[in-house]
Amino acid sequence: MRIGVFCSGGDAPGMNACVRAVVRAATFHGHQVVGILRGYQGLINGEFFVESDCQTNLTSNRVTTWSAHGGAHLRSSRSEEFRTLEGQRKAADVLERNGIEALIPIGGDGTFHGAVALAKIWDGQIVGCPGTIDNDLMGTDYTIGFSTAVQTAVEAVDKIRDTASSHDRMFLVEVMGRHSGYIALYTALAAGVDVVAIPETDTNFPEIVAYLNKTKKQGRTMAIMVIAEGDEKGGANQINEQLIQHGCPFQTRTVVLGHLQRGGTPTPEDRRRATQMGRGAVEAILAGKTGVMIGTQDGMCISTPFEKTYETHRPVPQELLEVLGEMAS
Ligand code: F6P
Repeated sequence: MRIGVFCSGGDAPGMNACVRAVVRAATFHGHQVVGILRGYQGLINGEFFVESDCQTNLTSNRVTTWSAHGGAHLRSSRSEEFRTLEGQRKAADVLERNGIEALIPIGGDGTFHGAVALAKIWDGQIVGCPGTIDNDLMGTDYTIGFSTAVQTAVEAVDKIRDTASSHDRMFLVEVMGRHSGYIALYTALAAGVDVVAIPETDTNFPEIVAYLNKTKKQGRTMAIMVIAEGDEKGGANQINEQLIQHGCPFQTRTVVLGHLQRGGTPTPEDRRRATQMGRGAVEAILAGKTGVMIGTQDGMCISTPFEKTYETHRPVPQELLEVLGEMAS
């Protein structure tokens, strides 16, 4: 069998480890893997990863060191053309002409929306792996890239704390998460930050300012707040303006970490999870499954229909919100 694999949407550290696992698992079972470049757009254009001997099959040797590499060697993209039926038909045609019978897309909700559309006009099997730093998909307790993104954000907050403390300032640090507070919440807990703003909870300025006043009276000379970019009150700059209007007792500065969080060497957790999920996707294809994402639950691979993975955004754990609240008391 010829299996196509590609990365799509925002890249995430660990995607390369996932591709490596797909190649190794498929090769183990005697199948071939084709690397499709630039996600759905590359599929439409018929762009394949080509080995130095001009072979389009990805070999086990080629992916030897990929677990340790950040970014996406297969490149990634967000394709406007694939949103159209014409684009989807072109993609299906490329798959048929190249004898690809099964596809493993690695990405987030947009990627799986695309997989559902493709399945309507292409007969091959499609089994996805969750690759997004946002950790916001249903049907898995983890998405590839989350751990590295949190590590990067925590390191940044630790550094910002130094300058905040030198200048008696408050810093508002914006992290990624278009619809999700996962990165913000985990960063705040790990970095020992008391105040967060995430889309899942109401951001209440009078309460935040009252808390800052209290801590200042108790002798604290600096503060840090972590903000998810998708907070309902806006990003760090909008929240900063609101805080000032509500009488924030500290001089403030904002930092937007942005795409920094998507780069860097994947953590062992991202590499391990990606390897398990990539292998799980191959196993699922060989078992005849299609239309599902392979996630993990309690250490085991589970499969979930694509439609269910993006039906809602995965809620942040209530218990962690309580932990954060108590730490700030
Ligand atoms: O979906 C992952 C993500 O990193 C989001 O957290 C962020 O909002 C978005 O991608 C940024 O996308 P782009 O790279 O297209 O600017």
